[in-house]
Amino acid sequence: MSNREPELYDVIGIGFGPSNLSLAIALEEYGAHGLENEISSLFFERQSSFGWHRNMLLPSATMQVSFLKDLATFRNPTSSFSFIAYLHASGRLPQFVNNQNFFPTRQEFHQYLEWAQARVADRIVYGSEVRSIRRSPGVVPEQSDRLLLEVADAAGRAGRIVEARNVVISTGLVPRMPEGTERDERVWHSSEFLERYRRTDRGELRRVAVAGAGQSAAEITRFLYDELPHAQVCAVIPSYGYSVADDTPFANQVFDLRAVDDYYFATEQTREAFWRYHRNTNYSVVDDEVIRDLYRRSYDDEVRGVSRLQVLNLTRVTGVKRAGAETRVSLQKGFDGEVRELDFDLLVCATGYDAMEPTDLLGDLDRHCLRDEAGRYRIGRDYRIVTTPEIRCGIYLQGGTEHTHGLTSSLLSNIAVRSGEIVDSIVARRAELSGEGTVLAEVGGDVR
Ligand code: FDA
Ligand code: NAP
Repeated sequence: MSNREPELYDVIGIGFGPSNLSLAIALEEYGAHGLENEISSLFFERQSSFGWHRNMLLPSATMQVSFLKDLATFRNPTSSFSFIAYLHASGRLPQFVNNQNFFPTRQEFHQYLEWAQARVADRIVYGSEVRSIRRSPGVVPEQSDRLLLEVADAAGRAGRIVEARNVVISTGLVPRMPEGTERDERVWHSSEFLERYRRTDRGELRRVAVAGAGQSAAEITRFLYDELPHAQVCAVIPSYGYSVADDTPFANQVFDLRAVDDYYFATEQTREAFWRYHRNTNYSVVDDEVIRDLYRRSYDDEVRGVSRLQVLNLTRVTGVKRAGAETRVSLQKGFDGEVRELDFDLLVCATGYDAMEPTDLLGDLDRHCLRDEAGRYRIGRDYRIVTTPEIRCGIYLQGGTEHTHGLTSSLLSNIAVRSGEIVDSIVARRAELSGEGTVLAEVGGDVR
């Protein structure tokens, strides 16, 4: 470690997926209004280059959100970082319009994200993982208005220390495996699917199982059915049949910007109602088109008198044992049904994700972050963790705020506006801390 003063930035972003990419753009556009608006920033991303759920970039997978809910448009409809600007730059705008589809493929959206990140590349450090955040002594010793971050390089060597006045944590969803199930060479989570699949001898995959009844599971089941014509594909689903994702217009309003306020300022009972009525807009549900596609394959099987696609419904994976080359999977039918074991060459657990969890990163700093009665972080309307008064720097979250800001927390629907709100809050607090203004209430003053 060197004795040099650590570099200091107004904002450091941890993780560089779509959320912090959108923030980098919001900062760039704010800075374009004049030098006095400049906010210095740096973003650390542990992947060696940009990648948005690359292991699920299946050939026919489409976006779950309109292309207009891109990195910038809902905050700034004239932004040069919009999906339309990307299409224009790629010479594909007329063809895209002729295609008459609001939902591009994930591959095309990925290309858009790569195009956008290349334009802010001077502020991204790839192959760098932030390991910890801690307090840095402030000008007034008992107050901390800077944070120290420890960053490890691609080889895992920790050592780089940087200082920030604000951090924006956006480290993404955390893959969830069924209880009692460990990943290994033949037991994968959907988040690692393509990488592992490419390294596997397909000829060895004669009987494969996919656990889960959400979008990931249905897409992987379809992919394996098409890719492995010699194999039997077994879908292990807890429901009776795949359920459709409700994307009808009234229900879709839960992703509107005003729904964030409606959720944030609601009572606990009203928040519960949001989940009760509208969980099926996102979780454990599948696009209508993919469901029909799968059903067609299953029906065609029947017509041909084969059963390549087998659906084990009302069934959950309850454990896995390794039996030589075989993967022995325990399956429970119903809640108290009997458990049976079946052997497969591969089990893919498309069993979902837990919310982003910054506790480990925050380490000792976590005791300055206030929690509600249920033990969850208290978060301001401006996505800033509510801290004890001596912490004067901002710790913002993009993700992990479903309990305060609702369904859009882990999605793309609101990232453009959310990033703008975070920039507004950083600017307002900077003015307040320097004694230049008292505008905090407008953007950041609301706290739950
Ligand atoms: P994201 O997970 O994209 O990025 C987090 C980044 O942080 C990662 O690149 C990770 O490497 C990095 N990181 C983690 N820890 C780090 C550390 N300590 N230091 C440095 N870097 C670190 N939603 C939607 O609205 N529409 C859609 O179409 C889809 N599609 C979709 C497909 C699939 C397969 C999944 C699994 C999910 C979706 N989603 C979605 C939901 C998804 O959460 C959303 O699209 C974004 O990925 C959210 O972007 P973030 O930047 O918040 O997280
Ligand atoms: P998900 O929606 O949370 O679905 C997980 C599924 O796994 C649920 O059906 C769950 O059933 C089931 N499950 C959990 N434990 C199980 C067990 N032990 N045995 C069998 N099944 C089990 O997760 P996801 O499908 O990964 O989707 C997560 C997010 O990614 C969503 O926002 C989705 O829209 C997005 N996504 C988007 C795309 C795309 O853009 N094309 C592709 C994939 C995913 P229970 O609910 O009963 O527990």
